[in-house]
Amino acid sequence: MAELEQRESWGSRWGLILAAAGNAVGIGNLLRFPAQAAQNGGGAFMIPYVVSLLLFGLPMMWIAWTIGRFGGRFGHGSTPGMFDRMWRHPAAKYLGVIGIALPLLFCLYYTYIESWCLGYAWFSLSGDYLSTAGRAVHLRTYLDEFLGNTTTTSYFPGFNAAITFAVITVLLNVWILYRGVAKGIELLAKIAMPALFLFCLVLVVRMFTLGEGRGSIWDGLQFLWTPDFGMLSTPKVWVAAAGQIFFTLSVGFGSLECYASYLRDNDDVALSGLTTVAANEFVEVIFGSLIAIPACALFFGADQVPEIAASGSFSIGMVAMPEVLRSFPGLEFFGTIWFLLLFFAAFTSSVGVAQPVMAFFEDEAKLPRPAAAMIVGLMWILGTIPILFFYRYGALDELDFWAGTLGLVVFALIESVLFAWIFGLRRGWDELHLGALIRVPRVFRLVMKYVTPALLAVIFCWWFVDAIAQDLLVPRPRVSYAVADVASFRGHFARGPALAPAEPAPGGDARSADQYRTAVAAQVEAVEHDLFGWAEAEIAADGRLRIRSFSADPTLLQVLDAAALERWLALEGFHYEPSDAERQAPAGAASRPVRLQLEAWNRAPYIWLVRIVMLGVIFAFLIIPHAIWKRRARLRREEIGAAAGPAGAEVPS
Ligand code: TRP
Repeated sequence: MAELEQRESWGSRWGLILAAAGNAVGIGNLLRFPAQAAQNGGGAFMIPYVVSLLLFGLPMMWIAWTIGRFGGRFGHGSTPGMFDRMWRHPAAKYLGVIGIALPLLFCLYYTYIESWCLGYAWFSLSGDYLSTAGRAVHLRTYLDEFLGNTTTTSYFPGFNAAITFAVITVLLNVWILYRGVAKGIELLAKIAMPALFLFCLVLVVRMFTLGEGRGSIWDGLQFLWTPDFGMLSTPKVWVAAAGQIFFTLSVGFGSLECYASYLRDNDDVALSGLTTVAANEFVEVIFGSLIAIPACALFFGADQVPEIAASGSFSIGMVAMPEVLRSFPGLEFFGTIWFLLLFFAAFTSSVGVAQPVMAFFEDEAKLPRPAAAMIVGLMWILGTIPILFFYRYGALDELDFWAGTLGLVVFALIESVLFAWIFGLRRGWDELHLGALIRVPRVFRLVMKYVTPALLAVIFCWWFVDAIAQDLLVPRPRVSYAVADVASFRGHFARGPALAPAEPAPGGDARSADQYRTAVAAQVEAVEHDLFGWAEAEIAADGRLRIRSFSADPTLLQVLDAAALERWLALEGFHYEPSDAERQAPAGAASRPVRLQLEAWNRAPYIWLVRIVMLGVIFAFLIIPHAIWKRRARLRREEIGAAAGPAGAEVPS
């Protein structure tokens, strides 16, 4: 059939392997993995991690490749068509829609993160965050202002820079997609993957030749690799490990299925799947644990690592790592390499995550590739807008939860049941071994049939119950404060242990730090818009902030005055740490004026908007296959009618 021959294919086996490895290796390997490992007990994490790899990671990887090549045989590169072939039921294609809606939603926020890496590569190259007027840039504020997470403007006047890098990144992605599978994705992988490997090596060598700081590289490694068996009885650790395996291997997304669909019938999938896992795990376990965490341990001391990790992947990558890198000579070189490394890792993943959407338009809607690229690009740009502008309201985290955490478990569950129970494990097993260069151990039959689906169901329920129990589904206001003129200080502001006794203040105020936050949040919920406050303060000799005056929205003043704010800050241990130079001349920092900004963001409307957009995307993608399949059925009927001739009355349907 002519249209089947028109489908693209990979240029070479090597190219495919690199592309698949590029798809799996991403920010997940270099930032999410170390953060997750450190948050979940360091070495203890590795046991559930390896178990998850064997029970979900590998089986789902083989299932994905098998489904993909099977679908590709019939000219389908996305899961609606694939599922339709596997299960001759009208509902199958609609289930498959998840395999294009999820990746589309996922790539919206993933490319935004990718664009930060590009931005930071540029800022490193130009030495932008090295220092301003001899003062060290406060990297947390730098990141927050870059993303528009706060309204202070010490380093960035707004988030124009972030918009620019986001647009560049999306355009680069669309350009690769437009060039196609072999000339775009494969070529990119052939360049980016060796570069990535080289960059990793350079950074590892650099890390190991840094000597010692407050700690050493070995402290970091010890922290990551010393098992803490006590954590094994915590369900959270198991769920986190399983989540990491899904995320890092790119399974449960319809993306590797799409890559496999460009294979030929007798091409191997068993070994290719295994190679993808191996390459990904190599980068994750070796490079993912040799760079970020050891660097932080060396620079900040091992005892600080859990705290840095707890503040998330982005804090490790964009706050702690730049801090380490700029404290040694050669930031322009090593800093640029670090962020280019992250960028390349993300780039080869984001094109992979968008390709199923491309394939859907090409294979099902029969659009030519440029048109498909235009549509995908347009959706991408439009979808990025809310993420950029509502980042401060938590739009990115919201998508990450639904698309990047929960959604892929749901999809993997559907996929595994479809494969082992509906398509049939026997058939699936034969399909997996067609043209295979290795034989998969037979225990995986059992795993694929019972263990993977059952555990996926358990994890899904756990996440849901946990989210409801923690009241995560109702968006609450986000309350934060920031020093507005942070750029004029040599030292830095930090939170630490409480600086004030918890007993009631003279005014009778006995609220805890949490109660202050809740009180502010409640006011936001009452008036349903953002609330701001401004305080003039000064730094006392012990580093504490003394509030001299506080002005704010009247609603906010009902629950907070200058004395209360001062107490709250003390309870949270908010204080100023002078730089070494200031410590030597103690008069330096004391009684210096500080401007503090209190921000309370009314998240609810924006989170609901994001949820509506998500539902809208899913709904739109449900309609398209509906229309396409209907039209196909009609064409088929007409064809049969024509073939049967004018007297074709008794045509079998
Ligand atoms: N595996 C990628 C990473 O480690 C992220 C990812 C998850 C992904 N699912 C995907 C990439 C699907 C491409 C396709 O960062």
